[in-house]
Amino acid sequence: MTLKLSNRSDIPVFRVLDILRIVNERIAQGEDIIHLDAGQPSDGAPQPALEYGAKILKSGTGLGYTEAMGMPLLRDRIALHYKQHYGIDLPHERIAVTMGASGGFILSFLTVFDAGDRVALAAPGYPAYRNILRTIDITPVEIPAGPETNYQPTVEHLEALEEPIDGLIIASPSNPCGTIIPPDELEKLCAWCDKNGVRLIADEIYHGVTFDEPAETVLRYTENAVIAQSFSKYFAMTGWRLGWLVLPEDVAPRLKALAESLFVAPPTLAQHIAYKTFDHFDVLDGYVARYKANLDILKAELPKAGITKLSDTKGAFYLYADIGNLTNDSERFCRDMLDEAKVSATPGLDFDLERGHQTMRISFAGKTEDIREACRRIQEWRAKKTSNYR
Ligand SMILES: Cc1ncc(COP(=O)(O)O)c(C=O)c1O
Repeated sequence: MTLKLSNRSDIPVFRVLDILRIVNERIAQGEDIIHLDAGQPSDGAPQPALEYGAKILKSGTGLGYTEAMGMPLLRDRIALHYKQHYGIDLPHERIAVTMGASGGFILSFLTVFDAGDRVALAAPGYPAYRNILRTIDITPVEIPAGPETNYQPTVEHLEALEEPIDGLIIASPSNPCGTIIPPDELEKLCAWCDKNGVRLIADEIYHGVTFDEPAETVLRYTENAVIAQSFSKYFAMTGWRLGWLVLPEDVAPRLKALAESLFVAPPTLAQHIAYKTFDHFDVLDGYVARYKANLDILKAELPKAGITKLSDTKGAFYLYADIGNLTNDSERFCRDMLDEAKVSATPGLDFDLERGHQTMRISFAGKTEDIREACRRIQEWRAKKTSNYR
């Protein structure tokens, strides 16, 4: 007898997490592999913030449930960040602390979309958007975006859609491309969404991790967007599972009710630590300077290995490489690179089901000496290659 399994849970695996698990097992068995796969900083939260958390742990107090939308202290601190960083006033009632940006997606998608709605998003893109949407019976409408628009969606793309959409997800800087939507384009996208009654979800998780200009927030151009943010990337707190949402006024009370029933509250110790990280931008900016140094090395060295078509990365810690000149099978390419060069990257199929067999994502959130060594290994490996995977 076969017992019931939901259709909604029948979604593709998140390949990068599988790769991460396999590579970590191999490293534990003694293999010398360099990670260019995982999208996580190699350093953690600033030490003083962790020490503050340790003090709270020792005291054994202040560790119960917080409010469903998060500790008022932390929400105030986040609001102050918007004032200091973007010059934007934000009441803390419009901020919800969530279990990572991931928890924020679940809450906000459930709050603003209904089953059967259509939500547009760029391909290549972060795969969880598509998977979460499918799981709650929302149709992802993928917009194939290429280097000509920096792999970002534009108003022209939206105008060309054959059927109306209910929502649009954007990410700037993006995963997997690290590209930024310039302020004038961002303004146009916001205006288009407002004019057409389309709910905009802006994933601003990589804000702070930018290399030239800071990324602009959609909050500058619209009051109607949901913004997803996180302590995982700039704040280097991936494992603490904490993020936040900035919500339109009408969305906040509905989302609060859902948050109460779905999660009760976000993790308390993580909230205390996150609160303190705002005092240590010097440490976090130091991490960003390292990512930039890593990016410069990759941009100089990868072309010497024939990996020449790289995204115009201006933020996050990813380069997206079109390796169509080397392979039609990026999974095999990455597997061989792992086995033979001992460097692990992510094949593009996670991010783009149609064209990802010719692309790969390289994450450079690790240590600079590892990035240098990875480049040396990839160059040596490519120089030995006689077949080109075609
Ligand atoms: C674009 C993007 N959004 C969201 C997430 C999930 O972040 P969190 O750890 O805050 O759940 C990631 C993680 O890699 C990401 O790249």
